[in-house]
Amino acid sequence: MSTVLNTPLSPVPVKTHKHRVCVARGDGIGPEITDAVLHILREAGVPVEFEPLELGERAYRAGHAAGIPDAAWEAITARGVLLKGPITTPQGGGYKSVNVTLRKALGLYANVRPCVALHPYVPSQHPGMDVVIVRENEEDTYGGIEHRQTGEVVQCLKLISRPGCERVIRYAFEYARRNGRRKVSCLTKDNIMKLTDGLFHTVFEEIAREYPELEAEHRIIDIGAARLATRPREFDVIVTLNLYGDILSDIAAELAGSIGMAASANVGGTLAMFEAVHGSAPDIAGKNVANPSGLLLAALMMLEHLGEQATAASIHNAWLRTLEDGLHTADLMNEATSKRCVGTREFAHAVAMRLGLMPKVLKPRTVDDTDVPQLPPCATRPSIAPAARAEKRCVGIDVFLDWDAPGRDAAQLAPRLQAAAGASLRLALITNRGVRVWPEGHAQTLCTDHWRCRFLAQDDHCDHAMLLALQQRLLDAGLESIKTENLYTFDGKPGYSAGQGE
Ligand code: NAI
Repeated sequence: MSTVLNTPLSPVPVKTHKHRVCVARGDGIGPEITDAVLHILREAGVPVEFEPLELGERAYRAGHAAGIPDAAWEAITARGVLLKGPITTPQGGGYKSVNVTLRKALGLYANVRPCVALHPYVPSQHPGMDVVIVRENEEDTYGGIEHRQTGEVVQCLKLISRPGCERVIRYAFEYARRNGRRKVSCLTKDNIMKLTDGLFHTVFEEIAREYPELEAEHRIIDIGAARLATRPREFDVIVTLNLYGDILSDIAAELAGSIGMAASANVGGTLAMFEAVHGSAPDIAGKNVANPSGLLLAALMMLEHLGEQATAASIHNAWLRTLEDGLHTADLMNEATSKRCVGTREFAHAVAMRLGLMPKVLKPRTVDDTDVPQLPPCATRPSIAPAARAEKRCVGIDVFLDWDAPGRDAAQLAPRLQAAAGASLRLALITNRGVRVWPEGHAQTLCTDHWRCRFLAQDDHCDHAMLLALQQRLLDAGLESIKTENLYTFDGKPGYSAGQGE
């Protein structure tokens, strides 16, 4: 090795108590990067005993549809902490993603993804970038509730709950407060999804009032994402819904330097899982070229979570020093600062050899006695007092029909629906893919075989018997209903979106 090493600084005190943590090496590049990370942790003398688990491809092949054997569930819930290599999700065949299953089943509701630039050692388009994305981890379209409803139309349900919003948003504010951050930005698309994203935004405004020292802002996700890509300095901590957070954090990781450097902590009421943001990278698996840094940084978040800040800081500084010394894995190679391209194993050895050294240029991680772990402890319950139960009143129904008559003309469908409405209900609206086609549609609208037909009660109130009778009359009229949604008001406010154009 060409680089001269300095004299090690103060060694990390040796502890006798050992934490017990589960570790799953994962698939693809998982085993090689996990082994590299465990090598560094062992060399640093972390007071952790690792209990190996089998998750992923082998478990899928053994017949576990979610890739998680029973023994693994037991071990994870007993130990409470899992360090996980990336796992391949097999395509098709009814397999479920291990990652999504673990996050949802274990209630790991907050996914914390720091994205920090280490320019010039890891070239970045935004050298000063330092953004933490807190992604909601359980709800949204990731419930995986999807249906094919007609020959032409499929749907995916987006479910957002008030308690789900409360706990992840509170977690983001707590994270910001604990880490001396100045601002929390909420990103949603509530100009379009007024109820689902609207709820997330509303809860954000409510919780922000409890943190007056922190700046709180809301941005629409599209311009917010564009600004994150072009002006990341405008952001500090971002809290957002599951799908947006998934996409944003990969973009942010690449902007900061490389997807191979990004770590994530998935935290819940009593359990926590730490992993890299990237996947199992089958294209480079088994070649000893993968960058183990994302998983290493995740392991350092884990050590912090266990209260081992000093050890985490020591390893972090050795890692920074390795990057400064120009020992880079293939994904980081650049003309300006790379001195040698090293493999996964060699990179790990280089970090281990630098334990006790500090970076010379990059900001070191320091700890003192007053330091608290970066990750706030998780609340098992939402901490906002539940709102008084709203008065819920059924005022109508949306009936979705599979109707494929020649011409697909809403003007022909409407009289049949009006005839079936009976005396107590009236046909208010027909939409096709959310676009109003009756009354007053546009000839240009593409009509599929999927129709949403809204019936409202004549006197603003209906009961289930009326709604069932309507469905029977529709059936008698030869109209096939594939799904219904009752329409409710809550304290007089509609709990449903207005049809477009209303
Ligand atoms: P990927 O993240 O595995 O790979 C995307 C690209 O980044 C590839 O070119 C890969 O070579 C590169 N890359 C990823 N990690 C790297 C590293 N540490 N060092 C150097 N280069 C790296 O995404 P992809 O290909 O879409 O997914 C592969 C598999 O991983 C799929 O089965 C997917 O479901 C799974 N996956 C698992 C995740 C997890 O376990 N948390 C997260 C994301 C995907």
